[in-house]
This record gives sequence, structure tokens and C-alpha cells, in this order.
Amino acid sequence: MAELQEVQITEEKPLLPGQTPETHSVETPYGSVTFTVYGTPKPKRPAILTYHDVGLNYKSCFQPLFQFGDMQEIIQNFVRVHVDAPGMEEGAPVFPLGYQYPSLDQLADMIPCILQYLNFSTVIGVGVGAGAYILSRYALTHPDMVEGLVLINIDPNAKGWMDWAAHKLTGLTSSIPEMILGHLFSQEELSGNSELIQKYRNIVTHAPNLENIELYWNSYNNRRDLNLERGGAVTLKCPVMLVVGDQAPHEDAVVSREFWGGRGRVGVLGWWSEGYLAKRQALFGTGRATMGPKRLIPGKNEMGMGLMGKELGSGSLGPLEGRGHREYNVIHSASCLHQVECNSKLDPTQTSFLKMADSGGQPQLTQPGKLTEAFKYFLQGMGYMASSCMTRLSRSRTASLTSAASVDGNRSRSRTLSQSSESGTLPSGPPGHTMEVSC
Ligand code: BEZ
Repeated sequence: MAELQEVQITEEKPLLPGQTPETHSVETPYGSVTFTVYGTPKPKRPAILTYHDVGLNYKSCFQPLFQFGDMQEIIQNFVRVHVDAPGMEEGAPVFPLGYQYPSLDQLADMIPCILQYLNFSTVIGVGVGAGAYILSRYALTHPDMVEGLVLINIDPNAKGWMDWAAHKLTGLTSSIPEMILGHLFSQEELSGNSELIQKYRNIVTHAPNLENIELYWNSYNNRRDLNLERGGAVTLKCPVMLVVGDQAPHEDAVVSREFWGGRGRVGVLGWWSEGYLAKRQALFGTGRATMGPKRLIPGKNEMGMGLMGKELGSGSLGPLEGRGHREYNVIHSASCLHQVECNSKLDPTQTSFLKMADSGGQPQLTQPGKLTEAFKYFLQGMGYMASSCMTRLSRSRTASLTSAASVDGNRSRSRTLSQSSESGTLPSGPPGHTMEVSC
């Protein structure tokens, strides 16, 4: 029987009086950038600044989240600045042929011009995919300007040669909109063709600015490594909430060849892109016991993540065979691994890790309620949300959410704020815990 998924549907709400958005454009050394401001600046509070993923703009990426009912408690307390990457704003003209689109680093370098124009001193960034990367880059270069980051589906690494091979092979058979949809959503979601998928397929496929979108896509694929290192010179200094959906896009999935014994994983032989392996299989046929009957492997891997893996091969038994070990191909969601890796490179006392169930590739679209709840905890941890603002559901779930095991094996130090704050911050400091939450 097909699994039923609980998906929160958001209705479009009319804006309250005084909430008329204002759209501005500013010139930067890398061209003009457009952004839309909702709400009015609040004294002693940062602005929430959003950056969308490839194929979307601020509205298609963030409207379902910011118009979600429970989000009202947040938006009443913060002014929002929604940035559209150049050429992604509604009605944007197509760039002339040969136009040099900014790199992701240059897109990050445009943000100071926006904040200077608005005279805003600090922000809490909310970014998805490419937008998450851009905001992280901005936070690395301007640590004093960023009070916190919510990073959804970030991949902090440059594409490796294996990713490039898979990307090039996919490009031979897929159109740009298909590749972008494959970046945004999982294959399961795309083939399920829900109303949401139909809507976003339509948005991406029929975008009048598709040429511009392709330029942003190219910049994303040419990103360089963020080079994050825990405790090193290059690390995010602010509280970070890393969010990943549990169903990452299939094409990006990663396969590891692993030895498993009676007590769990023994060792890893190597990592491959699943898209690459599938293409390789199509081109060269099945290799030695690599693509065989599928069976789910239960259990947890050493990173504390529930394995979303499945056995692809019945296992060519290697040198550890005699000791009862078996060799498996294990499929990991790439986004999940990128977040785990990213999490491992960030300060554990400042980072929360949220793996969201039943959310597909775009949790902010499919689970705005869960994300709003997590965002409230995050803001609360930073001292910006009084606990009286938390929904009844949030308050009753605080204990379970804050006691989950951390990815690096530590137990989280749970803390629930109960003080209220009229304006400004609570005397609490940053979240100060690492947690993995499967909602
Ligand atoms: C906001 O209130 O921030 C918002 C409203 C509609 C779309 C996107 C954001």
C-alpha cells in the first residue's frame, strides 16, 4: 500500500495593513540586485534575510513558509529582506548573450550593498541550497553582521570530478529544467507528481527567464569549497541550524562501498555518486556484484544517522569475509551527508542539526509548520523568542526535541527558556547545543 504522507498545505493569506512589501534594486560592483522588504525594522533586532535556491525566486521559495499561520509570531517581531538573485526577480529581462553572471562568492559580496542601503546592522540568514551557500559565504566574510543562520540543504563543497562526470552524463539526456528539478526534489517526489510538484515543474519549465536561471545554475555548479574547518580559521561563528529533508534528490545520492559486520559498520572502501554509478552501469554494464537485488539494511551508521541505505549488491566478500563481514553498497542521501559533514565542521556548541521526516527535497515548502517550530526554538535559543510565543504544540514537544542525540555522539545539553522579553534579547546567548532531530 502506498505510504500516506502528512503534508501541510498553506493557503495564501492577505497581508495585514502596514505589511505592504517594498521592492528595491541597488547597484553593486557585480551588477544590480533586487530585494523585497516586508514589515518594519524592530529596535535591537536583526533583520531576517532570505536567499533562495536555483530555479526559484524569493516568493516561490519562501512564500509558503512566511505565510504559514504559526510563522506570524516570528514575522511580527522581525523585518524581512528577501533577496532575488540577479535576473530571478519577477519580470526580470533575459540577460544579453555573453553576460558574465556573478559567481556565488560575488553574489555573497552583493549583500553588504543591500544592508548599507537599508541601514541594517545585523541579520539572521535563511537560505536554501545555493542561497544557503551564499549566506554562509557572507557570514564567513562578515561574521559581525550575521547573528544566526538557518541553512536548508547546504552543500559546502565544490563539485568533485566524480560529481562533474555524473553531471555531464545527466546533461546528455536531461534538459536544464529537468536537472534543476532533480536538484530541488527527489526522484520519488518527481515521479509522484503531486500538486506541489506539478506547480514547481510548471514554474521551472515555463520560466520566462530560463536563460538567467541557467546562469545561476552554472554559478552554483562552479562554486568553490567553503573550506569550513572546526576550530580553524574558516568557520561560522554564529549559531547555525542545518536543515535537511530525509528524501534527498536521487541523482545526487551517494553510494559508499562498506564492510558491515555483526556490530555494525566496520569500514568504508570508497564513495561514489549514485547517479554516476547508475550511468556507469547503463554505459558499461554491471560491474562485479555492484548492482544486484535490493534489500533494506536496518540499523544506524557511525554518524548516528538512520541509514537510508539499501543493499545494491549481494556483496562480493572481501578480505574481511572470514570474520563474518560483508561488503555492501549503501545509498546515502547526498544532502544528508553534506549536512552531516557540514555539521562536523562547525562549532558543536553553536550548531543544531535538523533532519526532517516526510519533507522531500524542500522542507520549507512541504513542512512549513515543522520548520517554523524549529525556527522558533532557534530564535528562542538566541534569546529572541519568548517562550510565551511558542505554540502549545511547541511547548509540549520541547523536551523531546532538545534531548536528541547529537551527530558527533555527544548528548545535547537541553535548555528551555521561560523568561519573556518585551523588546530586545533575553539574556540567554546562543543555542549552545548540537542536536539531530528527526521530526
Ligand atoms: C513575508 O512576510 O516575509 C513574506 C510574505 C510573502 C512572501 C514571502 C515572504
